Amino acid sequence: MRVIETATLTLEPQTVAHAEEMFVVLSDPAIYEYENEPPPSLEWLRARFTRLESRQSTDGQEQWLNWVIRLPRSELIGYVQATVRPNGRAAIAYELSSAYWGRGLARQAVQAMISELVEHYGVRSLGAVLKRENLRSLHLLERLGFSLALPEQRVKHQVELGELLMQREIQRK
Ligand SMILES: CC(C)(COP(=O)(O)OP(=O)(O)OC[C@H]1O[C@@H](n2cnc3c(N)ncnc32)[C@H](O)[C@@H]1OP(=O)(O)O)[C@@H](O)C(=O)NCCC(=O)NCCS
Repeated sequence: MRVIETATLTLEPQTVAHAEEMFVVLSDPAIYEYENEPPPSLEWLRARFTRLESRQSTDGQEQWLNWVIRLPRSELIGYVQATVRPNGRAAIAYELSSAYWGRGLARQAVQAMISELVEHYGVRSLGAVLKRENLRSLHLLERLGFSLALPEQRVKHQVELGELLMQREIQRK
């Protein structure tokens, strides 16, 4: 994995060395308004980051790519992640500390990751699953060119009733 630089952010490949700083970032309750919960302890997060550092699923079929998001010469503010399958499809996710919402930083970070996935991991199709009420995430995906998946895609990807599946296909050059 490479370090990715954007106009105002650096995406660093996530390692266990990030766990302590990320524990503070991920303890922000606002992040979990719609789903998930904060890490129960620093030890738990260290173990999780250690597992993720393998960068792949146990069967080796999926690439697990995680980058933490850093402000210039300053603190970490969140992460972006992608699960890349051999068929060129990536499932993406992202979380940003609420102190930094509403500045276009998530958009910049996720777009930079998408470009990396397309150029260096052969990704041709992107998907994201979110809770229906999560309008911030929905707006972000729409601005990034994602649109609602067709019902058969929802079935294929086992999307639950209270969730949306957003997709974006990458046009071949
Ligand atoms: C989802 C999440 C990452 C979105 O963060 P965000 O800061 O709202 O997203 P963006 O970076 O796209 O910022 C968008 C806002 O910044 C504003 N903005 C300011 N400057 C901007 C710029 N230069 N470029 C783009 N947008 C800018 C936009 O107008 C927009 O506000 P609006 O929605 O009122 O129009 C964040 O809410 C989050 O971490 N939520 C919790 C975790 C979560 O739900 N993850 C997704 C699970 S599916």
